[in-house]
Amino acid sequence: MSRKLAILLFPLFLAGHTAMADAARLYHIENENDAVILRRYAEPVAFPLSDADKTIIAQLREAANHYKGVGLAAPQIGYARQIILIEINEQAAAIRSSTTESLPQQIYINPSYEPLVSTSITEDWEGCFSVDSVIGKVPRFKSIRFKYRNLDGHWIEREVEGFHARVIQHEVDHIRGTLICDRLTKDHIHGSPEAMKAQRIAELNDNQREIIQQLYRHSPQPVKSERKGQ
Ligand code: NI
Repeated sequence: MSRKLAILLFPLFLAGHTAMADAARLYHIENENDAVILRRYAEPVAFPLSDADKTIIAQLREAANHYKGVGLAAPQIGYARQIILIEINEQAAAIRSSTTESLPQQIYINPSYEPLVSTSITEDWEGCFSVDSVIGKVPRFKSIRFKYRNLDGHWIEREVEGFHARVIQHEVDHIRGTLICDRLTKDHIHGSPEAMKAQRIAELNDNQREIIQQLYRHSPQPVKSERKGQ
């Protein structure tokens, strides 16, 4: 139930209706074996891409297509490699703000960022496929200078702001072994998905609420992690 609630409430990872039977299992911080991978500082990727890294990228795409959501990092499917995927579809953009633009699926390799000198901190709701127990309003930089290698190995550097910048920061955290449960200190609103439901919904307008309900009705049951001792 908590997984379904998390999907309902947290647009970072809204589920869709496309199902692929062979999508990778998602790793969870609450599972101590999974946590070993999730907590590792991921290894940078060399070019030209090895067959192993190409396979990881293909698996990451499959998992993103299956679970939907707006971002996924290689450690979340079991590989401590510096590879992240971001995809912001129109529905995910609509439930954020009028200024959030959709973004086709991107693969960013060896990504890093630094805040722009003029930026400030902003808080917004985040959930995570790898964190079942807590969601909340995570502080992030509004605008960043983002640097990564594309699939051809070229270094790209540019300024990014808004929701895209937020998702980048969330996914780069993953390759550094950091999760939202580390960011959600006592100074920031957070709690279990169930406890936060009313507040999250109350902040949406009618149109956004309708979109979330539609997505919820079409969401597949996520693959359950194999919990140790459960
Ligand atoms: Ni995450």
